[in-house]
Amino acid sequence: MISLTERESTSRFIVASNSEPYQHVRSDGEINQEKRAGGLTTGLDPIMKDSENLWIAWGRGSADFEVTDDENKVTVPNEEIGYTLKRLELSRKEINGFYYGFSNSTLWPICHSFPHKANLEKDYWEIYKNVNRRFANSVLEEYKPGDKVWVQDYQLALVPRMIREEEPDAEIALFWHIPWPPWETFGIIPWKQEIVEGILGSDFIGFHTSWLVHNFLDTVYKLGGAANRGENIARMGSEKAVVKAIPLGIDTDFFSRTEEQEKKAKQLKEDFCCSKLVLGVDRLDYTKGIDRRLEAIRTFFDEYPQYRGEVSFIERISPSRSKVQEYKDMREKIEQLISQINGELRGETWVPIRYFYQHLPQKELIPYYIAADIGLLTPLIDGMNLVAKEYVATREKGMLILSEFAGAAETLTESIQVNPYNPEAVADALHQAINTPEEVQKEKFSKMRVKLNQMDIHWWRDRFLDEWELSTHGRAS
Ligand code: G6P
Repeated sequence: MISLTERESTSRFIVASNSEPYQHVRSDGEINQEKRAGGLTTGLDPIMKDSENLWIAWGRGSADFEVTDDENKVTVPNEEIGYTLKRLELSRKEINGFYYGFSNSTLWPICHSFPHKANLEKDYWEIYKNVNRRFANSVLEEYKPGDKVWVQDYQLALVPRMIREEEPDAEIALFWHIPWPPWETFGIIPWKQEIVEGILGSDFIGFHTSWLVHNFLDTVYKLGGAANRGENIARMGSEKAVVKAIPLGIDTDFFSRTEEQEKKAKQLKEDFCCSKLVLGVDRLDYTKGIDRRLEAIRTFFDEYPQYRGEVSFIERISPSRSKVQEYKDMREKIEQLISQINGELRGETWVPIRYFYQHLPQKELIPYYIAADIGLLTPLIDGMNLVAKEYVATREKGMLILSEFAGAAETLTESIQVNPYNPEAVADALHQAINTPEEVQKEKFSKMRVKLNQMDIHWWRDRFLDEWELSTHGRAS
């Protein structure tokens, strides 16, 4: 692999993503800069920290445009080691059509294999195209030959081709952070051809797992392109891209514990528990299977009544996309289920489920990871599920119960893997986890931690850049 220092001297990066790496928010009369949650900023900051580099994103912080110059630019994270963040200001109509609309009411449910939830409104599609055009134009305004343009995720699927049309020799790559569905599901989108052609403006495309690469190549083939599965190459018309699985990792160093976090964890356990504490952490989303998990918890206490009063669950849920009806309905359903279960089962001091609907910065989640004897992450489908990785990285022992439909299951093979649709299986997995001897737990966690350290966020970035480099060498062929 090429080292970071070698890389720094050779290329200038332009990253384009919907979410920005840093937001400016106003609180108590002051403007604060906040790092957005998630691994992407941590992974990309080390290659971006050079004044030449540029990140283009939608500015959605409350004070974002109070700190930018007349080109909507600001240096982040600071002047000494900073790069330029260029913010796009979206109108209310653009936010509704592009973000809440086509990105999160059409592509999101389709890509997560919930076609019946997809809204196929043409207006949303038109606005999505226009906003992708704005992103592409913003890149093109800045582009100089030799720059590397790295586009992120499903919100910007059309951007690679829009850039390629103007700059045929540009080096362009895309990482798709969510699942790619089977052809029969993707095929429902009336504008599927344009979307796939848009993506294929890239030289290199990354997904989290090999089965997502497989689904994507299948879609290309069904749409009349050529898919070489042995060599991971997709072709359509004059476009050719290399498509590979590179699972996103986490910053494992960030998750090493401090004394203060340990103290807080002890307090949490005393406040909430009993003998075993089980933790779920999710963004509020129907793909996370929170309602099914709650049914499984009820099944668990029915099938194994000996754990009543002994085992407690924490469900930490962060608010998300709260203007989309699906998300509002989901929240209501979850809250009803929790109060039913707690109402039926609670004891004098024992509460079966502690529920929090609030965003917590990553650092503040660590005490919860430390306190929980078992991590219970059962998305119905998930591109990756970084929380599973974070839980493991924080601990030397414990048990992880993980959905077999989460991308992380491909790496975390020592977890207990369950079908999230089957409440009996999840209940049995909980019983098994509670009774797993400590030596076995330690062995499993040590194996998983070795993998997480090897395939961390820095590995992911370097692997992606190496594969991208190789793919551009072969472009003429
Ligand atoms: C997923 C997507 C990201 C997105 C995140 C949070 O992880 O892959 O692109 O940023 O969800 O969703 P939000 O709509 O709040 O940006």
